[in-house]
Amino acid sequence: MDISTTYMGMKLSNPIIVGSSGMTSTVDGIKHMADSGAGAVALKSLFEEEIMMEISKASGSGAVVNNYGEAAEYMRYYVREENVGNYFKLIEGAKKSVRIPVIASINCVSAGEWGNYAKSIENAGADALELNIFIMPSDAKLTGEAVERRYFDIVAGVKKHIKIPLALKLGYHFSGMAYFLTALSSSGIQGLVLFNRFVSPDIDLRTLTMTAMPVYSTPAELALPLRWIGMLAGRVKCDLSASTGVHDGSSLAKVLLVGASCAEIATAIYNNGAKQIGVMLEDLRTWMGAHSFKKIDDFKGRLSFKNIEDPIHYEQAQFMKYFSDHGK
Ligand SMILES: Cc1cc2nc3c(=O)[nH]c(=O)nc-3n(C[C@H](O)[C@H](O)[C@H](O)COP(=O)(O)O)c2cc1C
Repeated sequence: MDISTTYMGMKLSNPIIVGSSGMTSTVDGIKHMADSGAGAVALKSLFEEEIMMEISKASGSGAVVNNYGEAAEYMRYYVREENVGNYFKLIEGAKKSVRIPVIASINCVSAGEWGNYAKSIENAGADALELNIFIMPSDAKLTGEAVERRYFDIVAGVKKHIKIPLALKLGYHFSGMAYFLTALSSSGIQGLVLFNRFVSPDIDLRTLTMTAMPVYSTPAELALPLRWIGMLAGRVKCDLSASTGVHDGSSLAKVLLVGASCAEIATAIYNNGAKQIGVMLEDLRTWMGAHSFKKIDDFKGRLSFKNIEDPIHYEQAQFMKYFSDHGK
């Protein structure tokens, strides 16, 4: 049985990409994931903020580089962990140690001079680049259109520096989601990763202080990538990769069925260890065997919005019909 897949022109031996996270922040970690059967790895994000620090250090300007309100704890924590030079070394080390594709990742919020660093990432040997972009739409003076324009500006700013495939890993706070993602898919990118999962605020009622929700997803969160990948597959001009809530072989089969080329997984591996990759692939093979599927293309996208007769399940959001159907 052939479980290989093609993503952004790269041939992957299987559809599991270890998602950008602490697990892919060291050469040893990356090697461990490759040895455990991952089809590819997305490296821990390098943050635009770090690149900007590097630029201001080099120019001696000492300019204040972070004026983005969205630079939350999540970001600050990892900023401390990384620096630009080490990131290039991480790519080079990973490329020397593993044979699977290595996808570099930059967390960015603006277009600008830092786009040059994408070239250095390519030169360090990365097989592809993922831009992890999240512009918190919290500025009451910024229209949706202005927020969305920034995404296109970032793509244009990076595209001109690199030849390797480019993916965008996004959140889901867009009003005209299908329009926006379809337009982005025609902006010269090769992949959309739907969706990133962000740290959300919580409250400690005992101490009356702000805290953070758990950083790990639950299986129920699969609903979000399942719906949107299903809606967009075959209608966008780039490949789709699922992220958030893919915890087991069944959820992997589901995202492929709605049209994803692969899945970028973090929580399931944090929870169960890297052996979970093998477990998920074995479950995928078993399920494929039960349906006499010999390769992923035999079923990829079969249940996308475009390919099913009655796409009501994708568009239905209210409970009215559910209640009448189920007598509730
Ligand atoms: C501890 C941790 C660190 C992460 N760091 C990054 C990161 O640096 N860049 C990024 O794009 N995503 C990052 N993510 C998000 C994951 O790559 C993934 O998209 C998200 O966790 C949803 O997938 P999951 O449901 O399999 O966990 C991180 C997730 C976790 C749990």
